[in-house]
Amino acid sequence: MKKIKIGICGWGTVATALHSSIIKNKNQIKRTHQVDLEIVAIGARRDNPKYNPGETKILRDVFDVLDEDIDVLVELIGGTDDAKTLISSAFEKKIPVVTANKAVIYEYGDVLFKEASHNDVNFLFEASVCAGTPTINLLKNDLAGNKFLSIKGMLNGTSNFIISQMEDGMSFEDSLSFAQENGYAEADPTFDIEGIDAAHKISILSNIIFGSPLPPNEFLIEGISNITKQDIYVAKKLDLTVKHISSADMKDGKLLIRSNPALVRKSDYLSSLKNVRNGLVIDTDLIGKIHISGSGAGGEATAAGVISDIVRLASESNNHNAILKEDLKHRQISDEPFSFLIIVNSSSENINSDVLDKLAEHRIPISNSGLINDGKKSDITCFYETEEIASIALQEFLNDLSNLSSNFKTLRIEK
Ligand code: HSE
Repeated sequence: MKKIKIGICGWGTVATALHSSIIKNKNQIKRTHQVDLEIVAIGARRDNPKYNPGETKILRDVFDVLDEDIDVLVELIGGTDDAKTLISSAFEKKIPVVTANKAVIYEYGDVLFKEASHNDVNFLFEASVCAGTPTINLLKNDLAGNKFLSIKGMLNGTSNFIISQMEDGMSFEDSLSFAQENGYAEADPTFDIEGIDAAHKISILSNIIFGSPLPPNEFLIEGISNITKQDIYVAKKLDLTVKHISSADMKDGKLLIRSNPALVRKSDYLSSLKNVRNGLVIDTDLIGKIHISGSGAGGEATAAGVISDIVRLASESNNHNAILKEDLKHRQISDEPFSFLIIVNSSSENINSDVLDKLAEHRIPISNSGLINDGKKSDITCFYETEEIASIALQEFLNDLSNLSSNFKTLRIEK
């Protein structure tokens, strides 16, 4: 039986869950994969009051883990610069690395892939996207032979959790605190609620399937921090669901990456995935559409992805990463046609007819409009669903609309 000696760097939610999960499932992994996992050392600046690692050696300098007799370094310190230095140091010592750290791959992916290849060591990062829900190895290995057309879905568990809780009446702040208590959110939760974490993840997926660079070219990144209960209420009335959507798709040989709150139709596969679930629709030329969903955050769910990479090391020959596509062309989000939902609040009695006049004046085609009674007496709430139109063509109308109401919202509707 093959033994794999593991050094873990970092000692937070994922690292402690990795330790406990390996102990819990050690015999099962031996039985099913003929691999014996042993944690040799943990690099942690301080103890974690929530978890006792028993006999496992703790080193206070994470770099000292590299001097232990280990077969793999598991990087779970998070962040970018120190993590990059640690991973590069492991490569120099020909130690394979497994990480769940999407930020470091987003920032330094191209450099790290080159270094791994140069040193001929494995660098695996399944848990960096969708936690333990199979995604990266699915795209890299299992779907080999397919041409990818698009990938789209929810990649931030915290955002989906917050929106789901808000649908059930909880406030944004309380749901975020709850997500933090459950170990879903990043150390800095602005990464979750401003779309940055999901942007890291879609960039990694786009690199794998389209060969886009890491770090990527600039693209639309917006989070759910401005989503209100009213948005959720109005969407529901129109059979739509608010989601945080990240996508990468190739059209006419040009790539568009984006990460933004959007509305999905109730009939869409992604609509019913609630709470901390991530979900993806992958469109390929040979199989057509593939749907995956599963827990996308939390200690154990992420530890599962890390363990799958460690076990993979036992059998995998060196697996270097995507070759960058040098001549990759990009599309601009502002030129991309979408239907938009515009929600307008105003105390003016004439607001609906005024907005309809403005829409006509700017030749913005609409497919649906009306008034919504959300129980508030002071304001009138109106909604307008546009036909597909590029956001650049909406801009002048929106500038004019700001003279009619200071409280309006525009959300993309997914196709
Ligand atoms: N904060 C991340 C999320 C953790 O909520 O999805 C998993 O990457």
